[in-house]
Amino acid sequence: MSLADFEAAIKQLKAEADQAIEAATSDAEWTEVRNALVGRKGGKLSGLMQQLGQMPTEDRRAAGAAINSLKLEVEAALETKGASLKAAASSGPTLDLTMPGRRRWVGAAHPVTRVIDEICEIFRELGFSVALGPEAETEWYNFGALNFPADHPAMDMHDTLYLGSGAVLRTHTSPVQVRTMQRWNPPIRVLAPGNVYRRDFFDATHAPAFAQLEGLAIDEGISFADLKATLTHFAKQFYGQSTRTRFGPSYFPFTEPSAQMDVEIDLGDGKGKRWVEIMGTGLVHPAVIESAGLDSQKYSGWAFGMGPGRIAMSRYGIPDIRLLYDSDVRFLEQFV
Ligand code: DAH
Repeated sequence: MSLADFEAAIKQLKAEADQAIEAATSDAEWTEVRNALVGRKGGKLSGLMQQLGQMPTEDRRAAGAAINSLKLEVEAALETKGASLKAAASSGPTLDLTMPGRRRWVGAAHPVTRVIDEICEIFRELGFSVALGPEAETEWYNFGALNFPADHPAMDMHDTLYLGSGAVLRTHTSPVQVRTMQRWNPPIRVLAPGNVYRRDFFDATHAPAFAQLEGLAIDEGISFADLKATLTHFAKQFYGQSTRTRFGPSYFPFTEPSAQMDVEIDLGDGKGKRWVEIMGTGLVHPAVIESAGLDSQKYSGWAFGMGPGRIAMSRYGIPDIRLLYDSDVRFLEQFV
């Protein structure tokens, strides 16, 4: 074979190789093409190389260089094609990496629970722990032990949900005061959050079941000054250091004297700051201390009761109490 024929054969093989490599669409086809071109046995390049021996000695050098460079070119083209076939196989056509991920659903504490937790935290720093009592309570704990006179209007069938045989759904968290004093020796400092029940219609400002938060401090020598100082500290922590507080007279059978605490706050309704009553309070009546089995000559104390639902309404500008109990995700989502 002359050098010119050899070079022509190389040129043709190069064109064939380019076309075959380009046409491969799978790994299997690619392997087939590679074997046909550069396979040791039966590969077209090996076939051409064997021709070298029959060429005139002076042409062999040029022919050898030509076939070697063809081999390098074919191998490079095979490698490029192999890599692009692999890349195409590993990224499937339906995988869209630009699609946004699905957002995870996040739960959160109910606004009333949030207010309770926040208040408990403020009092925890003052040494108060949390006490719980039953929601189905006896008439004695709910009324009798708390110094309610037998004809008190709160005990009317129209106001209280009676369960029969001396049991009621508790109308307030105050019975936890008595249960706590029976169970622990002073000094006592507790908060008692929980649900209470009254025979009320469910309207914008009333719920037949709602949360209350009770506070109780009992020790030797506790006075009204402790009550005012502690509750004023609480109000400033909860509503802001510049918040003003005031105490006015009130009446509860289980406290003497009884008071209400007002705070001067902005309810976020555009009307600015005004005085809002947030709790009932007072010095624990000696009769209550005695009915819990403690010596009222030795021990005195103060207590308060408030509605965290109302606090949540004033804090978050919620106009209707029913929103707090509807469990409507669209409403609750605002507090996440
Ligand atoms: N138990 C009262 C109520 O439900 C609230 C209350 C007032 C609790 C004064 C107290 C207190 O501990 O000292 O309406």
